[in-house]
Amino acid sequence: MDRFQVTGRNILNGTIKIGGAKNAVLPIMAATIISPGKYCLKNVPALRDTYTMMRLLEMSGAVISFNNNIMNIDTSQCVNPIAPYELVKTMRASFYVLGPFMSRFNYAEVSLPGGCAWGPRPVDFHLMALEKLGADVTLSDGMIVTKGRLKGATISFSTSSVGATGNTIMAAVKAEGDTIIENAATEPEIDSLCLFLKKMGANIEGIGTKNLIIRGVKKLHADIEYEIIPDRIEAGTFLLGAAITKGDVLLENVNPNHMQIFLEYLKKTGIKLEINTNSIHVHAGSTTISPLDMDTDVYPGFPTDLQAQWMSYMTCASGSSIITENIYTDRFTHIAELCRFGADIRLSYNKAYINGNDILKAAPVMSTDIRASASLIIAALAAEGTSTISRIYHIDRGYENIEIKLQSLGADIKRISE
Ligand code: UD1
Repeated sequence: MDRFQVTGRNILNGTIKIGGAKNAVLPIMAATIISPGKYCLKNVPALRDTYTMMRLLEMSGAVISFNNNIMNIDTSQCVNPIAPYELVKTMRASFYVLGPFMSRFNYAEVSLPGGCAWGPRPVDFHLMALEKLGADVTLSDGMIVTKGRLKGATISFSTSSVGATGNTIMAAVKAEGDTIIENAATEPEIDSLCLFLKKMGANIEGIGTKNLIIRGVKKLHADIEYEIIPDRIEAGTFLLGAAITKGDVLLENVNPNHMQIFLEYLKKTGIKLEINTNSIHVHAGSTTISPLDMDTDVYPGFPTDLQAQWMSYMTCASGSSIITENIYTDRFTHIAELCRFGADIRLSYNKAYINGNDILKAAPVMSTDIRASASLIIAALAAEGTSTISRIYHIDRGYENIEIKLQSLGADIKRISE
């Protein structure tokens, strides 16, 4: 199992290019199942999760080539609408094939994902929506089996859900009649999925708002080229890495519009940012990091996927701060590991109380999920001495060549393979 060895307190300096968004490419890859034919996706990040979704599509009969961040998918021969436990258990986003399978085959067998490192993460909204669209939904041997010709319906989500919104849209694009989604997720990755589906011929109104209207069409088409949007979470992770090491880093291939609240928070801690259409330049200099309370929220709020990295950052602030996690109230497995670096953090339900201003000290630590791993790297970059971070297969799920990008900025980080 690979691990990282990181010697901290090097200032990050230089330019890096941010990759395509993991959470945008996964539903878009799934959407190619809906209409048989060829698709060319550009700016596709080479991540473990991208390969898992590739395997899933290939199992259903797709033919895929993937080189230099360009993915060609041919879904003409897909015949097998099944997503087995072996793949779904390694990546919950596998559940995204449910809507597309129903759209194309009026049938799907998708393993129930089970729990994850930060709680139960149910899929009840996805199933409620499919039932509303007229599917017959049953559970057999741990597999969700859905069948039936879908009909438009009004679906109201009690909580905004990225995955359930995406799945419902993909299920509804070819349903008979109109579907209204109330309290839809408005994350940029959902907008990007909608724009891709529109390119395929779907009729979707209200993109970017909480109310979507999907007017079912008989047929969608393929032969589409599409560029995946930049990964706002990867960008945020590198900005925090630069800020915590007092660095000077230019990020290219980013969309600052997708990160406005996060950038505002970062500025409020005293960090100077130069923001252009496709780039962000962070000049941290010798600035003392001001402590700042933060609450995660659905888009456009502060993303839960940057909460762990923000916590590492706040451990080096000049005072106390509180982080409130409103999306996944259990998403705190990184706290015990950050405490191994000497961080002073106390947890009370969904609030973490952080006493900053510590000099973090190197330690052996263990990754527990994608973003928690990123938070440990950020802490190790700031810590005095050499840390080892184990179980880094988590980070490979969501960050392409993170150590190579960090090395190019002057970080002392090595991957050790055993
Ligand atoms: C997606 C992202 C993940 C991110 C999360 C929140 C992908 C592949 N993953 O996950 O990185 O952390 O959005 O921004 O895009 N919920 C239910 N029942 C459901 C579905 C969700 O109760 O059927 C709840 C969840 O427990 C959570 C909230 O709704 O409290 C939001 O979760 P959701 O937006 O669905 O997260 P994912 O789509 O799984």
